[in-house]
Amino acid sequence: MKNKRKAIVTGITGQDGSYLAEFLLSQGYEVYGVMRRSSTQPFERIEHLIPRIHLVEADLLDQLSLIRILKTIKPREVYNLASQSFVPTSFTEPVLTGEVTALGVTRMLEAVRLVDPKIRFYQASSSEMYGLAPRSPQTLNTPFYPRSPYGIAKLYGHWMTVNYREGYKLFAVSGILFNHESPRRGIEFVTRKITDAVARIKLGLWDSVTLGNLHAKRDWGFAGDYVKAMWKMLQLKKPEDFIVATGESHSVEDFVKEAFLCAGLSWKKYVEIDPRFYRPAEVHTLCGDAAKARRILKWKPEVNFKGLVRLMVEADIERVSRQLRVS
Ligand code: NAP
Ligand code: GDD
Repeated sequence: MKNKRKAIVTGITGQDGSYLAEFLLSQGYEVYGVMRRSSTQPFERIEHLIPRIHLVEADLLDQLSLIRILKTIKPREVYNLASQSFVPTSFTEPVLTGEVTALGVTRMLEAVRLVDPKIRFYQASSSEMYGLAPRSPQTLNTPFYPRSPYGIAKLYGHWMTVNYREGYKLFAVSGILFNHESPRRGIEFVTRKITDAVARIKLGLWDSVTLGNLHAKRDWGFAGDYVKAMWKMLQLKKPEDFIVATGESHSVEDFVKEAFLCAGLSWKKYVEIDPRFYRPAEVHTLCGDAAKARRILKWKPEVNFKGLVRLMVEADIERVSRQLRVS
């Protein structure tokens, strides 16, 4: 029997890790998901995948653990999705964010370089690196101006990836992904916070939701679409960086309106603003130009803005209703 291609995915317990694992399995890969030791099991998003994937313990804070898994698994591809990914936490825990989101990338690149420089490496870079961008849409030539410790850490990881590609000839690529969401998005991120609240309000559990800056604009796509672009980048003949985005930007207020509308509610009655959710430095507008991904990867988003909001609201209404039925 032909040997299956092996892929290691860090951040397997996160939103993207779960979608990427599903996609790699559908492509016939043997998937090794990296999880760190924790006192409670964070398997919510991958419970259904556990019989089909291998879970291995390692931590981006621990260099030797990364070397060990590469030596034992001998993967063809490594997808580095793990990070401290929540922007507000990066302001309260900037050093931890730097250790995981910035230096963690170097630890993984060093492991690849030392164990097997033929391994193909994907780095989960972010549109947060553009921050206070001088132009819109942002392209691969737009200067970076990160506005949070998270954005700065991601920029370091991005440049280390470029540097290891140029310096050591690794097949290392940086995917600059704009915001992507799903029913598996962490509840602290604004889209999921809104759709979860809409479900609770619709079902009579809550009577309001408190948000921060409604004027910020983001280029929101569907996570299930975006993980396919990650894989496509590692199948190319030569390593290159790409932007992955929809090219459409909407405000948080647009998202709120659309989400309440999906549930047949009018948003103004239910939304309160609290400056507690404002950030020390805000990224006002993000909108990505994914022309290169469309051209070379033959990638395009399948789910549009309204489709995404509906998908998330319906999933949250279904989930909260289920919880009510069992309680
Ligand atoms: P997420 O849901 O927050 O998942 C983050 C993952 O990183 C979790 O599995 C977490 O594990 C893991 N992790 C955290 N610290 C770790 C450590 N020290 N060692 C090993 N694993 C660790 O993030 P996501 O939305 O899936 O995003 C995936 C990646 O893409 C992240 O790097 C994020 O910064 C980046 N990104 C995301 C977006 C987006 O819009 N979603 C856009 C651009 C870039 P635990 O379960 O143990 O906490
Ligand atoms: N989280 C949150 N909570 N954000 C709020 C709220 C609120 O109550 N109210 C308004 N916002 C605004 C934030 O100020 C921000 O401008 C916008 O909503 C989006 O916030 P998040 O959903 O937390 O995401 P993010 O854009 O900061 O970061 C996400 O996208 C990046 C890619 O651009 C994360 O997934 C990052 O990991 C990712 O790199």
